[in-house]
Amino acid sequence: MNPARRANDIEPFRVMAILARARELETAGRDIIHMEVGEPDFATPEPVVEAGIAALRAGHTHYTPALGMPALRTAIADYYGLRYDLDVAPARVCVTPGASGALLLAMAALFNPGDEILLADPGYPCNRHFARLVEARAVGIPVGPETGYQLTAELVARHWGPRTRGVLVANPGNPTGTLIAPQELAAIHAEARARNAWLIVDEIYHELVYDTSPPSAANLGEDVLVLNSFSKYFLMTGWRLGWMLIPEMLLPSIDKLAQNIFLSATTMSQHAALVALAADTRVLLDQRKAELQRRRDALLPELARLGFEVKVAPQGAFYCYADVSRFGMSSEALCERLLLDAGVAITPGTDFGSHGANHNVRFAYTTSLARIQEAVRRIEVMLG
Ligand SMILES: Cc1ncc(COP(=O)(O)O)c(C=O)c1O
Repeated sequence: MNPARRANDIEPFRVMAILARARELETAGRDIIHMEVGEPDFATPEPVVEAGIAALRAGHTHYTPALGMPALRTAIADYYGLRYDLDVAPARVCVTPGASGALLLAMAALFNPGDEILLADPGYPCNRHFARLVEARAVGIPVGPETGYQLTAELVARHWGPRTRGVLVANPGNPTGTLIAPQELAAIHAEARARNAWLIVDEIYHELVYDTSPPSAANLGEDVLVLNSFSKYFLMTGWRLGWMLIPEMLLPSIDKLAQNIFLSATTMSQHAALVALAADTRVLLDQRKAELQRRRDALLPELARLGFEVKVAPQGAFYCYADVSRFGMSSEALCERLLLDAGVAITPGTDFGSHGANHNVRFAYTTSLARIQEAVRRIEVMLG
């Protein structure tokens, strides 16, 4: 007996092998600095935790409607008003189990077997696997520093094929932390719209943009699917909660799919999320964001000094994507050496696609400034 082909086709995260190796080394007594992990090291803020506990104590242990609690859908719609000055109808908000749940719902709702979705290579690896799951095909478009590792309207037009039905971008992106200029995103939207195709914009790191305050893609029109999450800025990875803004005409399809696939997102998390969105909590979250920015600003010059070439400075998220060509070994070999010889875990580019994958690595600054400084010291010693 064999598992289905789709299970074989979907690749594991290589970073998981690194993490497993790191854990083995830790068990053997080694001190490992974790810069491979794609989640903040900060705990969920106390008022949010308390709200989750209170929800459980109050007996909120049942399913919610498949698209989320009405109060939370309204709170998320209000968030777009407060944060982006956008008027979003609560009916267009679906609450999902993480951005992952939103991506899965979007793929399932929008694409037929054989349809193609254009996305950036390098990019978040799960996207092509979600496409595979619904028997669609992700077409990775090689992107480099010249376009800030993002798609452009010109690239989208050039790679359009007879089966292309959608474009997916992450803004800022993972693994590079780089942004698409608002006018470029608008031009990509125009390309997709002119061909009657969907644009999906993943804004999971949008609240973690440090120097500017870009508009949400929700301002481009109701036909854009905009997804987001409580995982990153809101520090709630383990609570498994995200959301998606969808055009109203997709509501019945997404509702049916959500009912069948998930029933609902986690109830206690939805109650806690109401507090996560509150102004008082955002003060705490902005402090954490400022700390992430301090780490980025400390790490970037050190990476340059050590010979890791960050060709486009990340404007957001918590990643630095660096070219390691000058070290004369593949990204996987370098990551292995850094782990074994320096006790520093980072992620090879091979986790994010194939373009440039063998000579790029991702540093996640999801550990304290002191640990980042120690990592730099160790890498310097290792490189001699
Ligand atoms: C670009 C991007 N999108 C989506 C996700 C999924 O996040 P979650 O399901 O925790 O919201 C991640 C997680 O790292 C990500 O980096």
